[in-house]
Amino acid sequence: MSSLISPLVTWRWTLLASYNKTMDSPKETTTQWSQYYAITQVQPPSPLLLEALEYISTPGKAIDIGSGALKDTKLLIEKSFDVTALDSEPLPIELTVGLDSSRFHPVMTSFASFDFPASKYCLANAMYSLPFNPPDSFNDVFARIVASLRPGGVFCGNLFGTRDQWQLDRPRMTFHTREQVMTLLSGLETLKLDEKEWDGSTAAGTPKHWHTFDFIAKK
Ligand SMILES: C[S@@+](CC[C@H](N)C(=O)[O-])C[C@H]1O[C@@H](n2cnc3c(N)ncnc32)[C@H](O)[C@@H]1O
Repeated sequence: MSSLISPLVTWRWTLLASYNKTMDSPKETTTQWSQYYAITQVQPPSPLLLEALEYISTPGKAIDIGSGALKDTKLLIEKSFDVTALDSEPLPIELTVGLDSSRFHPVMTSFASFDFPASKYCLANAMYSLPFNPPDSFNDVFARIVASLRPGGVFCGNLFGTRDQWQLDRPRMTFHTREQVMTLLSGLETLKLDEKEWDGSTAAGTPKHWHTFDFIAKK
């Protein structure tokens, strides 16, 4: 039993330490992240990812950018992709139980520090992750993700809009206007760009005004 508890405790404290450094409300944020991981590990994969997969005829190398509790990574492995799961947080060992390790390549580092290989992936999946990259390195990270796609490769994910509530008090996150999103995607063929704005709640149940852009684009 202690071998199961220990990684979880380490993980939660690492989350606390990490977000203490980067967020304005660390206590609230840590609670939200812990709950977010606990909730999403039993959730189905992202519908946007399922939609993006319709544009890929043959599974190949994929990268899950901000892989979190691995709900999308697991789907991709099941569908015979070879998946690099990139996240700055340590991976709780229990989330990897039963995964085909020959197709699963976890990398624990920040997006900005990762050396995205050129022209490697047929799919880059970034669900609710890139907005957490700080503004000073955002454009460079985004360009390096695009460069890591093979010709015909698909990039899907979400960005946060400038009217998102977190824009008010999270200076280490990055928010975009529609025009800025279109500029980011301008080197790609945009297959979907869906701007949404609504009053809802976070995964942890905290009320929040959301402003997001869902995108699917092809190189
Ligand atoms: C909201 S969660 C989304 C997780 C998963 N994609 C999903 O849809 O459930 C964001 C994830 O991105 C990771 N993350 C945030 N900022 C990061 C950064 N700068 N570098 C690497 N990972 C980061 C977090 O640790 C977290 O696992």
